[in-house]
Amino acid sequence: MKNIHSIRDLRIANQRVFMRVDFNVPLSEPDAEGQRKILEDNRIQESIPCIKYALENGARLILASHLGRPDGKVSPEYSLEPIAAYLAEALGVEVLLAEDYLSEGFELLVQTMKPGTVILLENLRFHGAEEANQPEFCHALARFTDIYVSDAFGTAHRKHASTYGLPQLIAKKGAGFLIEKELEFLEPLLKGPAKPFYLVLGGSKVSDKIKMVDQLLKHVQGVLIGGAMAHAFTKAKGMTLPPKAKQPADSDVDCARTIMRDAERREIPLLLPVDTLEGFDIGPRTVMAFSDFLTNAKTIFWNGPLGWFENPEYASGTMNVAKAIAKIQAIKIVGGGDTVSAIKLSGVAESYNHLSTGGGAVLKYLEGKGLPGIDVLKFDPKRVEPAVLSGE
Ligand code: 3PG
Repeated sequence: MKNIHSIRDLRIANQRVFMRVDFNVPLSEPDAEGQRKILEDNRIQESIPCIKYALENGARLILASHLGRPDGKVSPEYSLEPIAAYLAEALGVEVLLAEDYLSEGFELLVQTMKPGTVILLENLRFHGAEEANQPEFCHALARFTDIYVSDAFGTAHRKHASTYGLPQLIAKKGAGFLIEKELEFLEPLLKGPAKPFYLVLGGSKVSDKIKMVDQLLKHVQGVLIGGAMAHAFTKAKGMTLPPKAKQPADSDVDCARTIMRDAERREIPLLLPVDTLEGFDIGPRTVMAFSDFLTNAKTIFWNGPLGWFENPEYASGTMNVAKAIAKIQAIKIVGGGDTVSAIKLSGVAESYNHLSTGGGAVLKYLEGKGLPGIDVLKFDPKRVEPAVLSGE
């Protein structure tokens, strides 16, 4: 990574290291005792090596993440409590979950932390200021930060306080192991992927992702769309959706119309479902059409399940396409929490080259304009002094 320090370059011993991670993982409904279980831990697992490194090298570690979209409200269902418990077990250390980290008391607590210990901040998005990248909030976080490390690849496309505002206030900063690993796999996709390069898209964060598809048409030779995202295209074609299917937002339908027009102009095949199971899964004819189209692929990036795979009744579309892709001789990359869960469930994960922790982040990255949460880590090579790296 050009002009970005690795955490290995930073002298973290005894320093207050703010490490932004992405612990946005799916949780179960609460059990009888009100406890929620982590349903898919890939993102946490992938963060562990860098966290261990920081602790073994004597950092006073402050971990920070968002979970879900609580929209600035303190909501127990989005608490990081299950993640604190998971980390304590995985790391074999006590993990304090800090709720009142904007208080003076918290600053004092951090001052007295011993090297090699860790605190996890409660969900950053309990504060509306996080997503708004509010300066006061960034300064409040900076008050207990000597060194900033980002290992939150999955959130690197967001210009939020903890991913974008805070690192601008901190001179000593760098990237963690997960960001390094992700870029190692993804950089070749930008520099000249083996062609044809096909994009498979689905999932539920439709409004977020649909805007990026138009940009991505410049980089790929075909796009296949299933899942809830396909509803916007069905509507844009003037067709009616099955009665129980979620209606797409009007703005997404407009976006879908633009994408279809641009794909046609660029002569990029855009495949949509030809049959569905009540709109909750792609049907067998679509599975066949998608699998056939993909057979000559040399590179495939897949983000977003093609149906409601968590429900066994609607899982077969995603599972069968996962198995068909597994057999293709191509670079096969999957991105996003739900998609990785689905691939693991299909039992063919080993046939994929990389399971990325980023969904929206990878799509943004593939546009080729960089990611704000990574670009912000850059230093000016003319100005950097060895002392910048020193923890003193
Ligand atoms: C993700 O799941 O893609 C990241 O954690 C970012 O979450 P967001 O889309 O809610 O910003």
